[in-house]
Amino acid sequence: MARLAINGGEAVNPNGHIKFPVISEQDKEYVMRALEEGVLWGPYAPQVKALEKEWAEFVGTKYCLSCNSGTAALTMSLAAAGIGPGDEVLSPSLNFVACAMAVLHCNGIPKFVDVDPKTFCMDPKKIEAKITEKTKAIIPVDLHGITADMDEINSIAKKYHLIVIADSCQAHGATYKGKNAGTLADMSVFSLNGLKNLPGGDGGLFNTDDEEYFVRANQCRMFGEVVREGVPRDYNSSGVGYMYRYFELPAAFVRSRLTSLRDDNALRRSNAQYLAEKIGGLKGLAVPHIPENRQSVYHYFRIRFSPKELGISMDPNLFRAKLQKALVAEGVAVSRWQTRPVQLQTLFQERTGYGKGCPWSCPYTSGEKVEYGPEDYEVTKQILADSLVLYDSIYPPNGHDLMDRYAEALNKMWENMDEVLGIEVAPDDMVLRD
Ligand SMILES: Cc1ncc(COP(=O)(O)O)c(C=O)c1O
Repeated sequence: MARLAINGGEAVNPNGHIKFPVISEQDKEYVMRALEEGVLWGPYAPQVKALEKEWAEFVGTKYCLSCNSGTAALTMSLAAAGIGPGDEVLSPSLNFVACAMAVLHCNGIPKFVDVDPKTFCMDPKKIEAKITEKTKAIIPVDLHGITADMDEINSIAKKYHLIVIADSCQAHGATYKGKNAGTLADMSVFSLNGLKNLPGGDGGLFNTDDEEYFVRANQCRMFGEVVREGVPRDYNSSGVGYMYRYFELPAAFVRSRLTSLRDDNALRRSNAQYLAEKIGGLKGLAVPHIPENRQSVYHYFRIRFSPKELGISMDPNLFRAKLQKALVAEGVAVSRWQTRPVQLQTLFQERTGYGKGCPWSCPYTSGEKVEYGPEDYEVTKQILADSLVLYDSIYPPNGHDLMDRYAEALNKMWENMDEVLGIEVAPDDMVLRD
């Protein structure tokens, strides 16, 4: 008789999980108070100003700017770094497209570095091979809530005079050698989109200790103008800028969420560590590896699967696709997140850019044809083929009871492996697009 839910058996977790974020009474009060104040917008409006001050204090930097997305914060940082036509910027192959997209927004050329198979962050050993005379900056990403190898990356950057912009969009509250994400690079950025550890619906935060970067990022944020608090606006743009300002109601909401960020992160950590303990003993399964000198905030919980270790001769991508279907049927919210290394997206393969091939064909480039070859995404591709992520099911208020059911579902897979192996998958479920 079939035991797996996908084949008609009883599901382990039929009621799913509580979706994030659960809006609290305090969240509503903060937003209502902002409405009652009657100010809806402005670069120096009370809520955005308070959020910037509180986030700078939380992270421990001199300056913070709020803006309307993490991608905007990346573009502001790159503009502050002076990235322009022909400049090359490194970011990891296992990533959301935002870093490379922000480089293109500055007319720069994105280049990619493969990741470490355990931490999933940019592999410092592979950086130097990608540095050319045109390289100006590195964007390490604190992927899934684990900070990148910042000491190694900063020392390479120093050697080659590169600017480091940390993409901490998934790592609010993470630490590296006791220091907070947000303080580990020349500039750092955070996303406030709806699923982030610090959610605001959408939004972004930029942190730095450097006054010049702060002023330039602020110019990029507002039309290329210098807009000073308490000084009449001159309406004189001196460079290319955007309209990336944040606004009062989401800022008030984020301020409320910030009051519980430390507790929320502690609950995620507790869920993740509990689950890791419960399933870590299953053969052929690897739970996230957190280096001892880092504290993860578990934005995602990535599990890798090895059919080979189980004595199963099957393409890991196909094995992962079968498991994914079976787990989803049991009520376990697993997904793939990205479906391919960033550079295999059409934009980077076709390199049409703004049209006519710009910025790749801009006369300020090195002149060498940019190729995005497999040597920079081998590890990324393996990870995407053989792993799945959990995300909002490990976020509070979900707790150990749900983790127990998730562990039960995984054990059920291992106990009924023949059934798992017999699951049919559509080509779309398993294709790693390239
Ligand atoms: C690693 C990373 N960088 C950048 C971003 C972009 O943030 P946003 O969606 O706020 O523009 C995201 C968000 O999804 C992200 O996960």
